[in-house]
Amino acid sequence: MSIAKKEYKRVTVKSLVEMKQNGEKISMLTAYDYSMALIVDTANVDVILVGDSASNVMAGHETTLPITLDHMIYHASSVIRAVKRALVVVDIPFGSYQSDPKEALRSAIRIMKESGAHAVKVEGGIEIKESVKRILNAGIPVMGHLGLTPQAIYKFGSYSVRAKEKEEAEKLIEDALLLEKLGCFAIVLEKIPAELTKKISEKLSIPTISIGGGRDADGQVLVIHDLLGMTHEFNPRFLRRYMNLYEDMGNAISQYVKDVKSMDFPSKEEQY
Ligand code: KIV
Repeated sequence: MSIAKKEYKRVTVKSLVEMKQNGEKISMLTAYDYSMALIVDTANVDVILVGDSASNVMAGHETTLPITLDHMIYHASSVIRAVKRALVVVDIPFGSYQSDPKEALRSAIRIMKESGAHAVKVEGGIEIKESVKRILNAGIPVMGHLGLTPQAIYKFGSYSVRAKEKEEAEKLIEDALLLEKLGCFAIVLEKIPAELTKKISEKLSIPTISIGGGRDADGQVLVIHDLLGMTHEFNPRFLRRYMNLYEDMGNAISQYVKDVKSMDFPSKEEQY
């Protein structure tokens, strides 16, 4: 368990680098709406990611590809209204930054202006170098994302562990160094071997945040629905469920249905 060594009233990109320097692990979780973001922020999570995983867990799509920039801005502005402490990072969705750097900057500016977010996240390395540069030049903090990048799922063909082979691992290290050099403030490493995460985390002065990348990253991130057990068919090895809300919520709702049918609810005390 990570123990906070310094109180941060407001987490900034600078605080995250400081946490890495002080050996304090960074906690990051997703949130997509006001009520959940309020709980996550009150629990002192350092970074809230408005992930494009909203496409899966909020909208029920199979992949993250269908979610639009407008959808992301809607989710992000709901989260921002709840958050007092955490750094809020928003995914730029598929198709809004890959084609050209000017479009990438326009998308990032819309997210920052219309939602009030603090930073954006993009997937990829050298392929999106010019887009990352453009966004950073406008003063917008950028978080990178390497390894299993879900926006490229059709290129990979599966959600299996990435960079097990030497060539892909070497490219991943080069991409991580490049993102750091360009000025990214942190990098998510998704589903790669723990040894590779360790190596990259030691090489970089900016923090690495792992999801399925092992213990040696500078921080960890999970999708909130997975952590709470609201999803039940997704069972990767890296996932630790802290609750079983799928069952608990289902039981509570079934009980409500029974109570309504039997006229147990509302009781005389629950009416005016
Ligand atoms: O969209 C998302 O939730 C993410 C995390 C898996 C890092 O990108």
